[in-house]
Amino acid sequence: MDFADVVRRRRMVRNYLPDPVPTEVVDRILDAARRGPSAGFTQGQTFVVVTDPTRRSAIAHLAGEDDYVSAGFDPWISRAPVHVVICTSEEAYRRRYREPDKLGPDGEIDWPVPYWWVDAGAALMLVLLAAVDEGLAAGFLGVHAVPGLRRLLGIPEEWAPIGVVTLGYPAPDRRSGSLARGRRPWAETVRRETWSGPQAEGDEHQTDGTDDEHPGEHQGEGTPEA
Ligand SMILES: Cc1cc2nc3c(=O)[nH]c(=O)nc-3n(C[C@H](O)[C@H](O)[C@H](O)COP(=O)(O)O)c2cc1C
Repeated sequence: MDFADVVRRRRMVRNYLPDPVPTEVVDRILDAARRGPSAGFTQGQTFVVVTDPTRRSAIAHLAGEDDYVSAGFDPWISRAPVHVVICTSEEAYRRRYREPDKLGPDGEIDWPVPYWWVDAGAALMLVLLAAVDEGLAAGFLGVHAVPGLRRLLGIPEEWAPIGVVTLGYPAPDRRSGSLARGRRPWAETVRRETWSGPQAEGDEHQTDGTDDEHPGEHQGEGTPEA
């Protein structure tokens, strides 16, 4: 699929068909994810793939699926045939940046931002885009019950689960109420040369071409984090 199409088609899908996803398809998606950039090539992300229905239901419970259902969503988390829990390790980055080629005169760098979160986001994006490229749909949700998720999946203390990606073949779903916010205007989002630099011709009406993926059926206003 053309890259622009993949980007344009990607959206968080909150309902799935029960059909299983072939292992080789999931593996190709994860292979894309492990090709993401990482500071110092730390590669401090680990992906826990869950397909077992009982375990998926337990994840759904921890993630508050009941609240989604009460708010009118489908039971999209337990229904998704594949969950990918993306984990990141701050310690892995700190270890890497204590290696001789990364160590500065004052020791470990003064981290400008936590690179472990940056790289986890890049990995997440690759999972989401690779899923679309494979003809699948994906969703992402934060899981606040981190200790429970750790216990359920045996995730070591060093690894922080950033959330769960749901993967599967798309079924008609309820859209997020958050979409009613609309996309931020181009001229606010893109600044030229400096924050307050001059606008270029066309900045006032430039669109990013993706808004057709979020047609005006904004439902689910006020639903949990959607
Ligand atoms: C860090 C992050 C956390 C999110 N958490 C949730 C969540 O807990 N539940 C949910 O339904 N959607 C969640 N989303 C999805 C957003 O609601 C969604 O990306 C946004 O509304 C834009 O829609 P789109 O991704 O379909 O373009 C999350 C997205 C991100 C990037």
